[in-house]
Amino acid sequence: MKNGTLTIGLIGLGGVCGAVHYPGFSRIPGVRIAGLCEADAGLLEKRKTEWGITAGYTDVDRFLSEVKPDAVAVAVPNIYHRDIVLRAIRAGCHIICEKPLGLMVPETVEMYETARRAGVRHMTAFTYRFVPGLTYIKSLVTSGTLGEIRHARFQRLQDWGEYAIGWRQYKKMAGTGELGDMGIHRLDFAEDLMGPIRSVCGAMKQIVQRDRMPDGTPCEPQDVDDWVAWIAEFESGTTGVFEMGKLTKGRGPKGDHDVCELNGTEASAIYQLHTPHTILVAGRGKPYVRRQVPTEYLKRPGSPRDPEEGDPVQTFRYDQAWEFVSAIRENRDCLPSFYHGMRAQVVAETIVESAVSRRWVNVPTWTREKQ
Ligand SMILES: NC(=O)c1ccc[n+]([C@@H]2O[C@H](COP(=O)([O-])OP(=O)(O)OC[C@H]3O[C@@H](n4cnc5c(N)ncnc54)[C@H](O)[C@@H]3O)[C@@H](O)[C@H]2O)c1
Repeated sequence: MKNGTLTIGLIGLGGVCGAVHYPGFSRIPGVRIAGLCEADAGLLEKRKTEWGITAGYTDVDRFLSEVKPDAVAVAVPNIYHRDIVLRAIRAGCHIICEKPLGLMVPETVEMYETARRAGVRHMTAFTYRFVPGLTYIKSLVTSGTLGEIRHARFQRLQDWGEYAIGWRQYKKMAGTGELGDMGIHRLDFAEDLMGPIRSVCGAMKQIVQRDRMPDGTPCEPQDVDDWVAWIAEFESGTTGVFEMGKLTKGRGPKGDHDVCELNGTEASAIYQLHTPHTILVAGRGKPYVRRQVPTEYLKRPGSPRDPEEGDPVQTFRYDQAWEFVSAIRENRDCLPSFYHGMRAQVVAETIVESAVSRRWVNVPTWTREKQ
């Protein structure tokens, strides 16, 4: 950090970097985006011009050694997370890495333990933790307003169409399909709301081939799930029912369905991504009523973001960068950290094991000792 300014490097300048990381970091006072790294030279030039940043690289090692950023945001396809994160740790950087943290559990363990040993701050980009409605629902759980949560449901249903969707449709690049893409966020925030999952019973399905590009040219067919569901038993005794799918007609492109509903002994509450500043609440014997999220939950404390600015379905995501920067400045762990990325990967792999063996499987408990 020079003269109190924290320098950030952005690695991987595709969809999520443009929509979340760049706008998130660029509005924080005392933070400077010092350089860009992107394998696609054409996209790199485009971003340099758009964002007015001159230091641009296609090679990660050159970027790290010449720009020497204090921290990096890694937003590349899943297969490259581990390698780039380990290089950034060696260069002494704090790191926010996209989800899923790695392709398989062992690499997430390695990333978490290496970052911890190096003493750098580490964060997994579980963006949904920053939805105002969810933050507010968490406060209702913690305060006991909902009572004991008896059961809950989590749904993310979208329609991405039937054509090829790039690296996400290949196991080698992504690890899993819908489970690692949308499911892993819900695993993370479900455990954040209701504690550790003890056991899962899962089902996964690849429904279409996706062997054509949108213009009709043939391509390698997909080999991952585009629908996944599981029942989870939590250690608390709560049961969660989860379903995610990328081929849900009527649920896209803008009509995506993202819901979490908790049913407690005293009340129920519903979060819906598309109304992130309100939730639905129902007391005993009452129907649901819409409730405004109180001001204190509309953004993270101290965040420079104006909750009234832009599309609230997008802008809450900028608070993720604020949490990362705040943790660095305050010399504390990020929330969620690589620990949570590793933990979600363990549960996700248990779902795969359950789906393949068609039985309930207990989630290994060893992650708890590593926290
Ligand atoms: N947290 C969220 O809500 C969220 C949302 C979308 C994507 N993601 C995650 O973010 C990551 C990126 O997803 P995306 O949708 O932005 O993908 P994308 O394909 O749009 O962008 C990835 C970019 O990384 C670049 N790249 C690949 N290898 C590289 C390397 N070695 N060095 C530098 N650049 C490299 C690619 O050229 C591409 O431009 C994935 O892990 C994905 O799961 C998270």
